[in-house]
Amino acid sequence: MSGNSIGEMFKVTTFGSSHGPAVGAVVDGCPAGLELSKKDIQDELDKRRPGTSEITTSRRETDQVEILSGIFKGKTDGTPITCLVFNEDMDSSVYESIKNKPRPGHGDLCWTAKFGHYDYRGGGRGSGRTTIGQVIAGAVAKKLLKTLGISVVSHVTQIGHIKANKVNINLIESKIMQNPVRCADQSAAKKMEKLILELKEDGDSIGGIVETVVLNPPPGMGEPVFDKLDADLAKILMAIGSVKGIEIGAGFDAANLTAYEMNDEFYIAKDGIRTTTNQSGGILGGISNGMPIIVRMVVKPTPSISKLQKTVDLSKMEDSEIQIKGRHDPCICPRVTIVAESSVAIVLADHLIRGGFIHPSKILKN
Ligand SMILES: Cc1cc2nc3c(=O)[nH]c(=O)nc-3n(C[C@H](O)[C@H](O)[C@H](O)COP(=O)(O)O)c2cc1C
Repeated sequence: MSGNSIGEMFKVTTFGSSHGPAVGAVVDGCPAGLELSKKDIQDELDKRRPGTSEITTSRRETDQVEILSGIFKGKTDGTPITCLVFNEDMDSSVYESIKNKPRPGHGDLCWTAKFGHYDYRGGGRGSGRTTIGQVIAGAVAKKLLKTLGISVVSHVTQIGHIKANKVNINLIESKIMQNPVRCADQSAAKKMEKLILELKEDGDSIGGIVETVVLNPPPGMGEPVFDKLDADLAKILMAIGSVKGIEIGAGFDAANLTAYEMNDEFYIAKDGIRTTTNQSGGILGGISNGMPIIVRMVVKPTPSISKLQKTVDLSKMEDSEIQIKGRHDPCICPRVTIVAESSVAIVLADHLIRGGFIHPSKILKN
């Protein structure tokens, strides 16, 4: 099974599975001399941790990170940074009854087509739990970005039919932790939470939209052909299980606009050339233009639900039914927020090193 790594110079490999001993990441290519503590990584993991509210899975994991290599005396030493989190609260028993019954909406049947088997204990390597790897690597990437004053934040902008009002992008970070939905509009967040709980009660789940914003990005990040910044962002975000579509800036709404409405006009600002609007979402020709980078992703409803659904029994090769009892997120969006911002940070770290914004072997200024 290949495809566990991403990045050219800031290379991230993730490993582990939902019901195995551990999950984690190796970050190869992080320059030496970056201040990095266990707390930096743990703080990010705590934002992704399950069991923190009624609207996330009740799986109780402390998700304590162990750093195995790459950091010496509080700084990266230039060698691969290896971190892992041991799985603690695995309960495979609930999966026994659905062992040969692929879950509708999940990867089980496709994994069988490819590998001849699938890990019926929560999806194994295909589980959302493996995104701990992205969050670990994202924590390292975020510290690198911070040396240049760049920050990344994600928020939920829609759950089902409930849409949040627009919030000043500089205020998102201070508002999202005030509710379990991670929505910056508090009144919409209440309605979203209610809808998620109603669907949970009904044995169903719901999807939504997550937006990730990069503040203070320098112009010039990205390579102009296959490694366009938006292409690399789309790849890493589409690699998050349950993400079904990506848009940058105006995104799919561009189909409704004329060029005069879509084009961002330039002007001379104090800190360089800026645009009067940001329909492009901070990227033109695959290269950042210095405006905030805005990426949105649509997240589908959690496939594992307790409502009775039709499936097949692979051991008997006959039609069957399934009722899924495991502990599942009734909505994945709140937990996707941190995975998305970590993923975006990983891509930016890679392009910052590739583009010479950061020295590849050592941090010159922290
Ligand atoms: C953070 C996170 C948590 C997830 N939690 C669950 C879950 O509890 N139950 C479930 O069925 N799917 C969950 N998923 C979604 C599945 O991993 C995903 O739907 C599945 O791998 C199939 O991939 P696809 O939906 O991209 O086609 C989660 C995904 C993420 C990123």
